[in-house]
Amino acid sequence: MTIANQTSRPATISQAVDEFAKFDNIFDGSQRCNSACVPKVSVVLRQPHPNIPKEHPEYVFQKDQLRDILGFLLKPNNDAMFITGPTGCGKTSIVNEICARLKWPVQEITCNSRLEFQSLKGQFMLKSAAPGEAPTMHFAYGPLAIAMKEGHVLIMNEIDLCDPGELAGLNDILEGRPLVITENGGEVIHPHPNFRVIATANSAGAGDSTGYYAGVQPQNIAALDRYRWMKADYMPAEVECEVIKLAAKQFGRPEMKQIVERMVQLAGELRTMFVSGKLSVTMSTRTIVRWAHIAEDFRNCPNALRYGLERALLFRLEPHEAQAINEQAGIIFGKTWENSTESAKKTRRKSASKAA
Ligand SMILES: Nc1ncnc2c1ncn2[C@@H]1O[C@H](COP(=O)(O)OP(=O)(O)O)[C@@H](O)[C@H]1O
Ligand SMILES: [Mg+2]
Repeated sequence: MTIANQTSRPATISQAVDEFAKFDNIFDGSQRCNSACVPKVSVVLRQPHPNIPKEHPEYVFQKDQLRDILGFLLKPNNDAMFITGPTGCGKTSIVNEICARLKWPVQEITCNSRLEFQSLKGQFMLKSAAPGEAPTMHFAYGPLAIAMKEGHVLIMNEIDLCDPGELAGLNDILEGRPLVITENGGEVIHPHPNFRVIATANSAGAGDSTGYYAGVQPQNIAALDRYRWMKADYMPAEVECEVIKLAAKQFGRPEMKQIVERMVQLAGELRTMFVSGKLSVTMSTRTIVRWAHIAEDFRNCPNALRYGLERALLFRLEPHEAQAINEQAGIIFGKTWENSTESAKKTRRKSASKAA
């Protein structure tokens, strides 16, 4: 499969065969797949570009998500894509990781209730050519205008935080119509063949039924009708174990297998408690990776796991919620977890008496 080259010349046969995107760590359900399960896709750009995201070789892909996003990027059929799913499950990062491997430049914005369509298009600004020189007026293109002009992927994170009225201006663009910038001499920007829009959000656009995602606004159904949809969720336990092992190498050692499984089990329990309303927070893949990193960095502490969990999640919670999670961790990790506070206190006492 080939993608129209950045210069909008069609990729030649030789370009198509000499540089393909490389995908590793792919899982189908809980089974690791061979990289050959992904169709060969040629890269979009062969030279470096500052807007190509950084690739993380340890990133773990799920085959069905990879298929959906690659399918959309290669043949959007005038659609935009909407990825919905709980916080920290990998909605934004999977798009960036795919674009990194395809060498496809990205314009990424995080939406909020005050975002104006105007700022996506661009605006006039005073700019000096060099320090100390008198500034002159220039039109600074916004992320939407740049993505449309140059064929980048526009990622709009947390799109459901936007005022739906402000986003109405995007409707025509999502259908493949040109962007008209009246203020810049009526400039008309026709979409580059590589221009794509991917929105991500915790809700599916109809508002937040859980009440936990502050600021989510129901979006206009006419706007929602212009997307194709992908539902993301926390990954299967076996795959999340793999994410931990790849993110924090210490956890890849065979003797750590059970600990990693228990970390993922705790995350699963907290997600169930969150969904049933017993907790107001959940354990995202982002948090579990942060937990693993801190525990790895402080592995010589008396209880590095507990130390890591406190700093990754517990310290930002109300005491009764932190207590509930600690109890759950105690059940899953057993005695080592319960004794940890004692052993930590003993070590602190020992080092205090040595210092005295
Ligand atoms: N498949 C994955 N492989 C490795 N790390 C992941 C994966 N999914 C999520 N993460 C971790 O979680 C973090 C947050 O993911 P992100 O894509 O920002 O979540 P979301 O956009 O759904 O809130 C990432 O930066 C990464 O550390
Ligand atoms: Mg995100």
